[in-house]
Amino acid sequence: MQAFHNICRHRGTELLEGEGQLKNTIVCPYHRWSFGLDGTLRGVPNQSECFPNLDKRENGLLEASIGIFKGIVFVHPQANPGLSFDAWLSSLPDVAWPFDFETDELVPSEEITYEMKCNWKVFYENAIDGYHLAYLHENTLGPLYPNANVWVEHGQHLVWYSTERDGQRHALPTLVEDQLNQFRVKPFKDMPTDFGGVYMFFPTTIVTPNPYGVSVSQLVPVAPGITHLKARSWAPKGRAGRFAGDVKSIPGYDKKRGIITSDNWKKHPLETLDFQTEDVWVCEKQQRAMESPNFAIQHLAAGAGAESTIEHFQRCLLDYVPDSARAAAE
Ligand code: FES
Ligand SMILES: [Fe+2]
Repeated sequence: MQAFHNICRHRGTELLEGEGQLKNTIVCPYHRWSFGLDGTLRGVPNQSECFPNLDKRENGLLEASIGIFKGIVFVHPQANPGLSFDAWLSSLPDVAWPFDFETDELVPSEEITYEMKCNWKVFYENAIDGYHLAYLHENTLGPLYPNANVWVEHGQHLVWYSTERDGQRHALPTLVEDQLNQFRVKPFKDMPTDFGGVYMFFPTTIVTPNPYGVSVSQLVPVAPGITHLKARSWAPKGRAGRFAGDVKSIPGYDKKRGIITSDNWKKHPLETLDFQTEDVWVCEKQQRAMESPNFAIQHLAAGAGAESTIEHFQRCLLDYVPDSARAAAE
């Protein structure tokens, strides 16, 4: 398997749109340069008159690199990233996993896009904040007080567990398990109970498995104050629809654009009994407050079931902030 940048080597036009399978070549629509599926430049119209000195071997598509974990394909824009895929994964492979996309026959639901008016980091910080669970989500995720959950660090990544059952690590809070049982969907296979409930792959991928299926969400930064959360659920054949639920019933569904947006909320988020809506609501509130010169993070709740995760995330981010930008912020 290989990955390439979607950019023509002539004048940089985007080559392909959408998704699907190609037969044998990629042809740029602008001036019809063509590339093989291995990225090599194959054809250049009027080459002898127009590009007498062009060396085709040096003008193949720019390569990206890939890594595969449990059947999930990760793409890095550089051909040789400074951090290898194995080093990036760190100790995650030692953690219990309930599924494998390569061997489990899972069927995807339709992709759902949430358009959120916040920076991607605001949403990430919300997703790893164990302190808010019992308060913002009092009526949805239940009483997950900081001592009832824990985040475990694996390099830059984090894995969340509920510890409501006598302190034992478990993937599901009891309330969510009760809710899922009401649907009377059978778990798709026998599985250990010590797998994580949420796997945060730094920086933008969130994987949430449970005994009924698995959801994979990706944060796509669109602008400093706009992020798309693209979510897709996977479940065994015949159960995917029931597991993923109906997109149209998600609060904020915009029929015309086919996305979820707070512009379309008909009820107050706390009345929806949808925890994702509650999260988007506070993230957008955080973002609006950030525009004030008085915005500041004053205190973080200590503990791996509270907000020490946010400190961990910000330390990981700092490694990517150039010194000049750090100096300007100080
Ligand atoms: S930009 Fe692609 S062929 Fe000219
Ligand atoms: Fe939340």
